[in-house]
Amino acid sequence: MIESIIYKDNKITLLDQTLLPIEEKYISIPDYRTMIEAIKKLRIRGAPAIGIAAAWGIYLAAEEFKDSPDWKEKLEEAISEIEASRPTAVNLFKASGEIKVLLAISDYADCFTETVRDYALKLMEYEKNASVMMGVNGLEEISDNAVNIMTICNTGSLATYGEGTALAVIRALAEKRDITVYACETRPLLQGSRLTMWELMRSGIESRLITDGMTGSIIRDKAIDCIVTGADRIAANGDSANKIGTFNLAVLANHFNIPFYIAAPESTFDRSIKTGAEINIEQRDAEEVKFVRGTQIAPADCKVENPAFDVTPFELITGIITEKKVYKNPDEIHKA
Ligand code: MRU
Repeated sequence: MIESIIYKDNKITLLDQTLLPIEEKYISIPDYRTMIEAIKKLRIRGAPAIGIAAAWGIYLAAEEFKDSPDWKEKLEEAISEIEASRPTAVNLFKASGEIKVLLAISDYADCFTETVRDYALKLMEYEKNASVMMGVNGLEEISDNAVNIMTICNTGSLATYGEGTALAVIRALAEKRDITVYACETRPLLQGSRLTMWELMRSGIESRLITDGMTGSIIRDKAIDCIVTGADRIAANGDSANKIGTFNLAVLANHFNIPFYIAAPESTFDRSIKTGAEINIEQRDAEEVKFVRGTQIAPADCKVENPAFDVTPFELITGIITEKKVYKNPDEIHKA
């Protein structure tokens, strides 16, 4: 398993995903400010991995401020800065929210620092185990005849800690039968071409890279059997935010009458919001659309839209595969 983030000898390093697949380089994260930069620049990304990175960021801040008389105030400020790094993946806010509760009842900085370290380690363990169970539940759910699978963005070990989310399901299928994965390149930051293709090839899974505009005709012409993607935040009614382009795939799946699944850990549910309309969609810099890896591909002063995520209504989703079960109707999500 590729480790997206490593805690060893009280040091944190992460695999810089902006350099992949050209260079495999672990970079050291000495303080929480460097962690914020890494999250904002997508050196570490993917909802579960962002949650883990946030927890380690808070740990680094706790280490830095533990000898200060106003350590709690400084930490609260650092946590707010971490929370402002990326708005959509709920995993970040789950981790920071739970750690804030622990902070409120902590009297000793040293003890709190250890508590946050334990929290971050447990979160890694949780995501790792959840990914295994998503694979098990996905394998049970998805038809034995499904061999041509489409996905978008990167949902593997890089995006979480463990086998992944949608990619954990795909790996589980690949262990049992010959499948071909069609990976959308995922404009503008190319998580599909740079990261998913890299992971699939390392795992020896038969795969094809396609551009996002090819999806409709590839689904028709290559007889795609089902689509599986991840999610960054799932509302109480099952509406799911994921990488921009996911909604298009769900509409296409509906048109072609093939199943469309979301695979996500329970940590990606945000039951405090009723529908996907309440999800804060990250708007990213226009330069990401006008340039591809440093090369200008559009008029310098053209106007651009760059939402990083879209929301797929639950009515287009066949099922949400988690480590607990496969949710098929919104009532089950409310009650869980
Ligand atoms: O902008 P990113 O690369 O962080 O977006 C990631 C995704 O959209 C994934 O599909 C999502 O986080 C779920 S995968 C674990």
